[in-house]
Amino acid sequence: MPDDLHRSRCLAAGPRVGLRPFTPEDGAEFTARAEESVGLHRPWLFPPRTAEEYAAYAAALTGEAARAGFLVCERAAGGGIAGFLTVNNIVRGAFRSGALGYGAFAHAAGRGLMGEALDLLLEHAFTTMGLHRLEANIQPGNAPSRALVRRAGFRLEGFSPAMLFIDGAWRDHERWAITDPCG
Ligand SMILES: CC(C)(COP(=O)(O)OP(=O)(O)OC[C@H]1O[C@@H](n2cnc3c(N)ncnc32)[C@H](O)[C@@H]1OP(=O)(O)O)[C@@H](O)C(=O)NCCC(=O)NCCS
Repeated sequence: MPDDLHRSRCLAAGPRVGLRPFTPEDGAEFTARAEESVGLHRPWLFPPRTAEEYAAYAAALTGEAARAGFLVCERAAGGGIAGFLTVNNIVRGAFRSGALGYGAFAHAAGRGLMGEALDLLLEHAFTTMGLHRLEANIQPGNAPSRALVRRAGFRLEGFSPAMLFIDGAWRDHERWAITDPCG
């Protein structure tokens, strides 16, 4: 385990970032970063910005079999939280698929850290988590999000009108997905 990611178990590490689980102790840093990042996240993403919201969010990501969450920690910043990735709606059996969510925090955005983190998550999902497919449902106007998954090797599978209820309305989404290249 790299020293700079010591604060809890490191699940995967690359040159610049590591992935580790959400913990209750991360609430103050996570919510402060989320507060700073409202301008980056809206209207696409609404992560927790209060201690209560964070506690419920982290508990669901760590306690529910159908969900998993990963903090993206920047090694050069002593493991400070640069962003996060979630895998939701995990279905096993013949599907072995999950739906991806993610956000960078403003101080860390646009530096390639999320791209590195997504590559680490794909490796983790297709090995340790035993998944075969990850999908990312993205609103057509969200260019940074589309670019992130396209660079990671996701393919555009289709278009779903009125797919998800976000920011007060049912929003159209593109369905991007990737399957395990090793089978
Ligand atoms: C989508 C989102 C997570 C992308 O995060 P990000 O920090 O911009 O991602 P990255 O830094 O890895 O990639 C962005 C750019 O950094 C560039 N970059 C800069 N330095 C880099 C480096 N050293 N190595 C690699 N890429 C680098 C990349 O090339 C890329 O540029 P491009 O899009 O012009 O090709 C972020 O925009 C975000 O949080 N958006 C709001 C929330 C959201 O939309 N979530 C998803 C809902 S579907």
